Amino acid sequence: MSEIEDKAESGSMDGAGDCTANEPKDDKGLGLGVIFFMGAFLVCFLSGWLLFPKLLYSKKEQPFNFNHALHVSELGDCESCHFIREDGTFSGIPNLASCMECHTDEAMGETEDEAIFAEKYVAKGKEVPWLVYARQPDCVFFSHAAHINGAGMDCKTCHGPIGESTASRPYEENRITGYSRDIWGKNIWGIKKHSWDRMKMDDCAACHKEETGHQGYCFQCHK
Ligand code: HEC
Ligand code: HEC
Ligand code: HEC
Ligand code: HEC
Ligand code: HEC
Repeated sequence: MSEIEDKAESGSMDGAGDCTANEPKDDKGLGLGVIFFMGAFLVCFLSGWLLFPKLLYSKKEQPFNFNHALHVSELGDCESCHFIREDGTFSGIPNLASCMECHTDEAMGETEDEAIFAEKYVAKGKEVPWLVYARQPDCVFFSHAAHINGAGMDCKTCHGPIGESTASRPYEENRITGYSRDIWGKNIWGIKKHSWDRMKMDDCAACHKEETGHQGYCFQCHK
């Protein structure tokens, strides 16, 4: 018999009837199948697990690096640049005019970042389009005054050590929702090591519950 006929034979109903004889061979096939399945599953699972976050987020560079450590040592504190105004609103990221108290038209330093800053923004009088890592969707109301003046909280609790950094990290944007990765969190398992690892609705509410005994009404955070 030729090989083809042989295969056709064992694949026919006749062959199927002959169960006992085929059993050990089938078992082995099943075992291999399971191993192959597990292997393929693991490869897909791991590549999905590791690749998905990379595909889900697009990285955008800040216009140039901002050196917090250097400026904090020059100015002495955070409040010279980030402060709460008389009316309770937060100044946010300082504008170009406040930078130009020190950075005049002539560049002060020689670094690449300062050259970009001087040429593209200072010389042209153009505001720097900073990307805000902590940016919440428009439906969310947040007040710095309530947390800093009211509750006496530290910037680090929500933002992490940005104030001590010497360079800006890339901004990561969720391709589907447009959310900053700082809101949905770095860790795909959802585990938080620091209070600033994630800032979703549940994270705001969990702290409110802990601090005030109540997670807050919808209208407090959604106006
Ligand atoms: C109190 C004065 C002061 C203010 C205000 C200030 N800077 Fe600076 N900045 C400095 C000094 C001093 C240096 C170091 C200069 C040097 O390298 O010679 C510097 C350096 C820099 C550099 C280069 C740093 C590096 O490590 O490459 C950049 C970029 C920069 N500043 C941007 C800004 C921006 C943007 C603002 C406004 C938000 C700002 N600065 C406000 C004093 C100031
Ligand atoms: C010279 C002005 C200056 C000083 C002083 C300064 N900052 Fe900033 N800060 C900036 C600028 C400009 C940015 C935008 C660039 C960036 O994100 O790195 C920024 C961004 C930030 C952000 C990022 C907000 C977000 O989500 O994008 C945080 C948090 C912050 N600063 C905290 C601090 C803290 C804490 C201190 C004091 C330890 C401080 N800053 C001192 C100018 C300043
Ligand atoms: C309770 C958490 C919390 C604390 C404490 C906090 N922030 Fe924020 N910060 C946020 C959130 C949330 C946003 C985004 C607000 C939004 O998108 O409306 C933000 C935004 C910012 C921004 C971006 C500019 C903007 O549009 O408001 C800067 C700069 C900033 N914070 C600096 C600081 C500094 C400096 C401190 C300490 C003095 C501080 N924050 C303390 C939660 C916090
Ligand atoms: C680590 C703790 C913490 C986190 C995180 C936090 N908050 Fe708060 N929040 C507080 C405390 C404490 C108060 C002050 C409560 C009081 O004075 O009764 C407060 C007050 C507020 C208030 C004023 C409530 C009112 O009507 O008096 C708003 C609005 C608010 N938080 C929104 C948010 C939002 C939105 C987030 C998340 C983006 C957030 N908070 C994250 C601790 C936190
Ligand atoms: C402590 C502040 C806080 C309270 C209280 C709160 N939310 Fe939110 N909510 C947020 C923040 C921050 C976000 C954005 C981050 C996210 O999607 O988790 C959000 C997002 C949402 C979204 C999704 C909107 C979108 O565009 O993705 C819905 C819907 C929503 N909230 C409904 C509610 C309802 C209903 C209540 C009352 C039961 C409530 N929230 C109470 C802070 C709050």
